Formats: sequence, C-alpha cells, structure tokens
Amino acid sequence: MKPFYITTPIYYVNDKPHLGTTYSTVATDVIARYQRLRGRPTRFLTGLDEHGLKIERRAKEDGLEPQEFVNRMAPPFQEAWDMLDCHYDDFIRTTEARHRKRVQALWKRVDANGDIYLDNYEDWYCVGCERFYTEKELLPDRLCPDHKKPVERIKEESYFFKLSEYTQKLLDFYEAHPNFVKPEGRFNEVKSFVKEGLRDLSISRTSFRWGIPVPANSAHVMYVWFDALTNYISALGAPTEGEEQAPLFDKFWPPKSETIHIVGKDILRFHAVFWPAFLMSAGLEPPTQVWAHGWLTVNGEKMSKSLGNFLSPEPMVAAFGSDVLRYYLMRDVGFGQDGDFSHASLFARYNGELSNGLGNLLQRIVGGIVTNHLNAKVPHVDPSTLQDIDKELIQTAHRCSEQAACHLDAIAPNRALDTIWELVASANRYVDQTAPWTLAKTGDKQRLAEVCYTTMEALRWLSVMIWPIMPNKSSELRAQLGLAPIMPTEDVDLWPNAWGALLAGTQTKGGTALFARIDKDQEKQILRRLGVLDVEAPAKPSTKTSSKKDKKDKAMTEGHISIDDFFKVELRIGEVKEAERIPKSDKLLKLQIDIGESKPRQILAGIGKHYEPEQLIGKKLTIVANLPPRKMMGLESQGMVLAASDAEGLSVLGVDKDLVIGSKVS
Ligand code: MSP
Repeated sequence: MKPFYITTPIYYVNDKPHLGTTYSTVATDVIARYQRLRGRPTRFLTGLDEHGLKIERRAKEDGLEPQEFVNRMAPPFQEAWDMLDCHYDDFIRTTEARHRKRVQALWKRVDANGDIYLDNYEDWYCVGCERFYTEKELLPDRLCPDHKKPVERIKEESYFFKLSEYTQKLLDFYEAHPNFVKPEGRFNEVKSFVKEGLRDLSISRTSFRWGIPVPANSAHVMYVWFDALTNYISALGAPTEGEEQAPLFDKFWPPKSETIHIVGKDILRFHAVFWPAFLMSAGLEPPTQVWAHGWLTVNGEKMSKSLGNFLSPEPMVAAFGSDVLRYYLMRDVGFGQDGDFSHASLFARYNGELSNGLGNLLQRIVGGIVTNHLNAKVPHVDPSTLQDIDKELIQTAHRCSEQAACHLDAIAPNRALDTIWELVASANRYVDQTAPWTLAKTGDKQRLAEVCYTTMEALRWLSVMIWPIMPNKSSELRAQLGLAPIMPTEDVDLWPNAWGALLAGTQTKGGTALFARIDKDQEKQILRRLGVLDVEAPAKPSTKTSSKKDKKDKAMTEGHISIDDFFKVELRIGEVKEAERIPKSDKLLKLQIDIGESKPRQILAGIGKHYEPEQLIGKKLTIVANLPPRKMMGLESQGMVLAASDAEGLSVLGVDKDLVIGSKVS
C-alpha cells in the first residue's frame, strides 16, 4: 500500500469559514480517517491562502497591516476544524517562511527550464476569484460569473508562464492517467478546455505588494495561485537548493505515494491544468488525482460569504454536535454534485436514519434486552447453532462492509453511507423478525443469546464503519458495547471483515440514547436558535387582512407545495451509458446512467414499450437522484427516469442543450 496524501484547498482568510468550506474539510477528513483505519500511512494537509489583492484590500478595510490581519483570521479556521473533529496532520499558511522559500525555489526551477518571460498584460480581473477573465467569459455588464460582481481592467508588466507549450504535454498526461480528474464529466470539461489551446499565464503582479517577491525582481510579487498551489509540496518540505533530505516529500509525493487534492469544482482548472504544468516544468510529478466536488447551495446558489447566503458551522454544532453535521454533509450531498442545504432534510435524516435507525437498534438490544435479560453482558453463542436468518444478516454485513469500503476508496462518502445504512436497516428488520422480547418472555435463553449476539456484532461492525464520519458517536456506541474507542494504527487494517470478535462476558453499558429523538417543539426551538424561525408571536384573534403566513398555509392546503418541498427532490441530468431489456418483462429496461458520480447508477425504467434500448444510449435524461434504492424483479434501481406521456405515447424528459452530466435541475 502506497502512502496516502490528501489535501483540502487552502482557504482565503478574508472571512471566517462557513458551511461550504466546512464541506471540503469534512470530506477530506472522512477520507483521511478511512485510510488510517485501513492502516495506511496517511497525511492530511489543510491551511490558508493568505496573500493576494483580495486580502490586502480586506486588511485595509479593517485598518490593519496585512500580516496582522491574516494573523487574526487564522485561528478561527483551526478552531472550526477542531470543533468539527477534522484531524489534519499539518496546517500550512502561505505567509510562513517554510512556504515562501519553497515557492521561490519552484519559480527558479520553472525559470531555469526557460518557461518564464517578461511582457505586458491587459485583461479583466476578478479580485474575488483572483483570476483574469476574457471578455467572452464574463456575464452581461462585465460581472464575474462566480461572484456576480464587476471585474476590473488591469494592465501592467507581468511575468508569464509558457502554458501554451504545455497544451499537448497535458493532453498526453491526461491520456496516460485516465483517473487524474474525478468525476469523469469534469475531466471531460478540463480536456475540452485544454484542447482549445492554452494561452500563456500571467504569474506576477506589480500593482500591489502583498505577495511573495519574484526572485531576482522584487518589483513583482507572484500571482497568488502560483504561490497557493505550491502549498501542497512546500508543506512536505519539497527540496530546495542546498537541502538534500526531503523525507516527507519523498514519502508522500508521487511517484511513491497516492496523492489526492480535494477541491471545489470552481477551482478545478487551477489544479488540473496550471498545477500539473508548473510541476512538469519544474521536473516534478503531478499529483495522482484531483477530485472536484460540487457546491453546497442555498436555493440553488453556491453558499458563499460574498453572496451573503452562508450558514456558519458553530450554531449547527452547538445544536446537533459535530458528528451529526458531518453525517448530514456527507449523506445529503452526492459527492461531485451540488446539494442544497435544507434544515428539513437535516431533521428528517436525524430522526429517521440516526435516531430511528442506528440509535433505535442499539437501544432495543443493548439498552433494553441485554441490560434487562442478559445481566448486561455479551452472551456466549455457539456458531454451529446459528439459524439461516442469522447467517443472512452476517452475509449482509460482509457485503455492506465490502461495498462501503469500495465507495470510500472511490471517494463516494454518500454512497458508503447508503450502504452502511442498508446494514442498519437489515439489522433492525432482523430484530423485528426474531423478536427477542418474545424470546425473553418465553425463556428461550439460547435463541435469545444468538439473536442478541448477532445484533451486537452487527453493531460492532457499524461502530467501525461509521468512525470516519462520526468518530464521537462511534466511541459512544462502542462504550455501550463495552469496547474501547477506535485507535487507528499504521499497518493494521481495522475495517471489519471477521465475524465474531465481540467477546462473551464483556460488560455492556446500554441505556443512553445515541441520538435522542427531536420532537416538533424541540425542532422549532432549534430552528429559532439557528435564526431560521422568527420567534412566533402569540396567536392573535383573526383580523380582516390575513397574514403572509395564513396566505401561505392556505396556498398549501389548496394543492400547492412549498418551494422547500420542491427542493427536496434532487433532479439531475444523466447520460445513458448502457441499456438492456430485462428478461420476462416487456416494460422494464435496465439502464446504466452516469450522473457525474464515481460510477453510473443502475436505474430500472418502465419505458420498454416505447423505446428500444439502443435508442437511449448517449441520451441525456432527467433523473430523480435522491430516492432510496428499491428492488424490482430482483434488481436494484437507484433512481427514477422522468418521462411524460399522452394518448399517443411516452417521451423521456431530456434537455435541449448539451449540459454537463450531473447538472442540477431546479
Ligand atoms: N484560496 C483558493 C484555493 C487555493 S488552493 C491551492 C480558494 N479559496 S476559497 O476559500 O475561496 O475556497 C476554497 C474552497 O472552499 C472551494 O474550492 C471549495 O472547495 C470550498 N467551498 C467554498 N464554498 C463552497 C460551497 N458553497 N460548497 C462547497 N465547497 C465550497 O478558492
């Protein structure tokens, strides 16, 4: 197993972290924890991007020197990541000396390779993005397409990087590394962009001072992205002149490691085009993979400080604890896609999946039966007397553990959670069917022991599988089973694969609800604390003019739904990759549809009377992506294809432009 190195983007320090930035860091932490659990040497880096015009201006607004400003802004990030139990191994700030000297060393290597020259530059600049735009990339009124704010015309002397000379080299590299960018749809966008031919890149500025000076010409500071991208190797102590030893770099940078940059889709081009080109120029290996996740959105808009629609993690953690927030972020948003933040969905998942699902399973067996009827001890069982229903649950546990591991290997935490919760549901069904409370009453001690042991062992497996996402809840669950918290150790694979490690006689400590149920009143209180619900005025006698709320309630009862209800349905554009008929059904077609995830989804659609399978291949369709998987004719369907019909026939719903796979319909 190669060492594993995973990084978040380094965040601009112009504001405190919000739920959108939290999403990147939590996802990276989940994957790092999973790799540690597997015993793999793992390094997780995060940090801060502290230079550039944006920061210089922001410091000025606060009447501070830039260094003083960034020093004040750094602690809230570390505090937020600690609060969210994100266990990074290193935290880099681009104003640190260790970074500065390595960025200058990289510049010198690129320069020595003949890839830097001096010229003049003129174009439109968005300070929010810290990047130039051409006229045709802008929105009407010359607004930045991301920040929706006016861009500035900039004309100045600049050093250029000969990016144009890397067009073919990058295309060859992409060809040789088909997994370099994930998801695949985004990789295709990157390739199309490069295929159009690359322009040389301006990599220095003279009109402000807050940056790393260009070696040999301190009138220029480096372009903030040249500076920022280098953090991934400067934090590893990439070799500079006069330094012979770079043990961390040798261990965690390719070719000896697997190195993954987790980034938001907004900054993919910097990572998948500029960064490998800089590295190639310097004679260094590019990273193994760049994984571009989608955005956490609010009513379909990217959550961001500049758009003013952000939510802060602190009150959420205060209300639910960090594990629940981590779970929600990883569960509700398909990794690679955008996902709308919804309080309603957070409560629904909390009560439905955490409290009723996992919490109830633990409570019924450990808190209830084992405490009351088995002296709060893990019972002894003889594996040879287990019944078929027990063996089925054991098989399900094996299958779910293997599949969840595959999903986490492929960086699909949402799919891993789907699979883990399949085991939760199966174990709850098992308890319903075996009815241990009846066994306790009838005095069938042996069978009672078998059922409780089997369920507790499933809970032990679950305690390991949830650890990357909910480390504290994992420890609480394990404490109830009489087990110590998970302590990952290098070279020891702790992922569950052997049934029966729970020792008979272990003292259990059941009783406390793992996820106490939140009732409607508590929900309202929490929403009020989060500032989502206004404090309700006492009910007033009805007046002639009905209030806004009355009108809204009336509209709901007249066959309308709220916009929040509508946004609960996750609609995506997917491309049909494979299609075939299902034997013995003239109606059902089995489709493999790519919706921008790590692998296509299998969706069964009842459209076989209207379409031949081959007619559908390559078509872009609208998919409902957040339905629970269900079985039809023994096959799993992971979504629904939308279609409309009239008396004449049926048509699947597509799009009339060639949209990117996985695009959200709203
Ligand atoms: N400083 C650059 C990154 C340099 S990396 C060498 C930057 N910083 S940022 O603070 O503006 O954003 C960093 C990252 O935060 C985004 O790419 C993305 O990963 C994450 N997110 C910011 N808002 C987000 C959402 N609303 N949703 C999900 N992730 C978001 O760009």
